[in-house]
Amino acid sequence: MTIAADLRIVDDLRGLSHAAAEEFVNQATATVRANGRFTVALSGGSTPKSLFSLLATSFRDQLPWDKLFFFWGDERHVPPEHPESNYRMAYEAMLSRVPIPPENVFRVPAENPDANQAAADYGQALRNFFQLSPETFPRFDLILLGMGPDGHTASLFPGTSALQEKSRLVVANWVEKFKAYRITFTLPVLNNPAVVTFLVGGADKAATVKEVLEGTQPAELLPSKLVHPTNGRLIWMLDQAAAAALSKP
Ligand code: 6PG
Repeated sequence: MTIAADLRIVDDLRGLSHAAAEEFVNQATATVRANGRFTVALSGGSTPKSLFSLLATSFRDQLPWDKLFFFWGDERHVPPEHPESNYRMAYEAMLSRVPIPPENVFRVPAENPDANQAAADYGQALRNFFQLSPETFPRFDLILLGMGPDGHTASLFPGTSALQEKSRLVVANWVEKFKAYRITFTLPVLNNPAVVTFLVGGADKAATVKEVLEGTQPAELLPSKLVHPTNGRLIWMLDQAAAAALSKP
């Protein structure tokens, strides 16, 4: 099955980050103009770091920071000051450098030793912020996602229980290869936003990108393949290296 996505390919990671920053500013300014606010869930890992830095520097003055609301699509089960914390990476690269009100930043309470409680508390924070009635899901304006070479996205790893979750917004997902919990949005949340943007770079992901966007493997083996908004836009932003195995247009 070929996923219907808006595919954008740029030269390298630097170009990818710059294009993603432009797209972010365009979406954020248009959405704030229309709705008065912009809600975004950030991805973690290393790819988005240069995007975050660009937003905090070259693009800083183009964003209405007090109208932006930041969440995380997943988090490691570590305290916010931990080197592996997705929050710490975003704070150091961006949030500590921009005039965003602290109350606009919704960090996953991953310092809680009880990962399930941390996930439940974060799910409740989403329900409160979006004023959700039971059985409904938040509709983010933008969810940023990355992809691992195994096809995982957020912390939905192949073969893990979170892939089956249909009702909760956020779960603690045991990832055997890390021998650790990850706290992650579930697929109903990932498939409900106005825009999902995958930001993927590097040759090590080229084969997986091809399989996700053009392949026939069961989607459960490649969780990124399960993300296509039911009523929204799907954008894949790739550098040349990550796009190298795709069929030429
Ligand atoms: C995380 C991320 C994860 C990430 C991919 C890609 O917590 O690690 O949310 O889903 O996006 O693993 O990571 P890189 O950008 O480091 O390749």
